[in-house]
Amino acid sequence: MGPGGVTGGSWRHPDDTSAAYLTIEHWTGLARRFEDAGLDFLFLADSYGYPTLHDRVIDLAVADAINFPAADPVVLVSAIAAATSRLGVVVTASTTVDKPQVLARRFATLDHLTRGRIGWNIVTGAAQASSARLFGEQMMPHDERYAMAEDSVQLALKLWETSWEDDALRLDKAGGVHADPAKVHEIDHEGPYFRAHGLLTVPPSPQRTPLLFQAGTSGRGRDFAATYAESVFLAGGDPDHVAANIADIRRRAVGYGREPDAIKFLVGAMFVTAPTEAAAQAERQRMLDLSTLENAAAAYAFFTGLDLLAMDLDGPLTGRTQQGQSSVDRFTGANGAPVATVRQVLEDHRRNGVNGTVFVGEPEHVVDQAEAFVQRTGADGFLVQPYVTPGTYDDLIDLVLPVMRARGLAKEAYEGATLRAHLFGAGRDRLPASHVGRRTAPERAAMV
Ligand SMILES: Cc1cc2nc3c(=O)[nH]c(=O)nc-3n(C[C@H](O)[C@H](O)[C@H](O)COP(=O)(O)O)c2cc1C
Repeated sequence: MGPGGVTGGSWRHPDDTSAAYLTIEHWTGLARRFEDAGLDFLFLADSYGYPTLHDRVIDLAVADAINFPAADPVVLVSAIAAATSRLGVVVTASTTVDKPQVLARRFATLDHLTRGRIGWNIVTGAAQASSARLFGEQMMPHDERYAMAEDSVQLALKLWETSWEDDALRLDKAGGVHADPAKVHEIDHEGPYFRAHGLLTVPPSPQRTPLLFQAGTSGRGRDFAATYAESVFLAGGDPDHVAANIADIRRRAVGYGREPDAIKFLVGAMFVTAPTEAAAQAERQRMLDLSTLENAAAAYAFFTGLDLLAMDLDGPLTGRTQQGQSSVDRFTGANGAPVATVRQVLEDHRRNGVNGTVFVGEPEHVVDQAEAFVQRTGADGFLVQPYVTPGTYDDLIDLVLPVMRARGLAKEAYEGATLRAHLFGAGRDRLPASHVGRRTAPERAAMV
């Protein structure tokens, strides 16, 4: 919920309207447009952090709006819910920052207010160094943040799935029973980070548990996704690396007793298109003219804490990070990824932004590329990201979607009423029985 798109300097594009991000009309206008086009959901990314290096704010990030500023997107969801009736809304919340009891109550409320259209993108948080500074804390090590995320989600799942029985809410005015005390239960949780003994104060919502998304494909992130996620956002880029990550998460999910198709994999991607190939290439050039190696380096620092400009540009990318590891793994040979030089990493981020995949060309051509990418990786779809608002979305809806629909690659209409049904089909409003959140305590203990 900030200005600009996923590549550097796009807020400076003369047609970009994202500076209006602090007005409700900006978002409700986009949401209605997406709903009219039949898109599954609108995604609002989030982080408390901002780009820093060596314990200092990067001036260029402030000057050129690189992952900064960013308002709180959860607050916006009700406005979007009021302006739409079918579109899903997915919002990021970090398990490192918010307590699970707060998250469970907030998402249960939002599931009611959206009538079952809310999704939670569970993250341990990008830009952890600055986020920890803001909260006056030491940065928690990477894998420990994921251990804390597990504890958080397990507690939230107990509140959503077990605190209220389905028929607990009676609304019996004559009998004087609003809710049946015998069917509302305090949950117990004794975890390494969180403890709880209490009730969810919100009755069961259409989905009970919000649709669970996860983003972050470090080794620990993949295991977390395999256990809890119903949909995973992945960075694009090298198709073999993306394919290896998807295959690995699917394999682990099956190991946890889930179906092979229990998770929908959505790859971050951008479509730069126009009615003719020449016009599309001209727009791509305009995009590249706005984006510099310096603002790419600041964006990379936001995700990883690594200072690319201080490294040997012609040497290989090296160095471990306790911040986001996916953006390092993509360039250091992990899981089928190519080994890149520091200059190549910078240039990749300058051209493609953090999520790596940009399809450029006239509509038939970009759909050819997208179709080939899906076939090669096993992905289920794309998380479409903007370069220019609303231009990127207009082009997607007016030029790309009709070609996809003509080829049978995109749905014609919404399925079901809830966000879970949009992704998994009508009738699938709640967590499936194979999900860890639906298992009994002894079953859970045997699994994890
Ligand atoms: C498409 C996409 C969207 C993401 N959205 C967010 C977000 O909103 N907030 C966030 O902190 N991290 C987000 N991430 C994840 C971070 O990039 C980062 O990978 C993660 O927070 C750290 O986990 P890791 O070490 O497993 O990579 C997103 C990733 C992708 C691919």
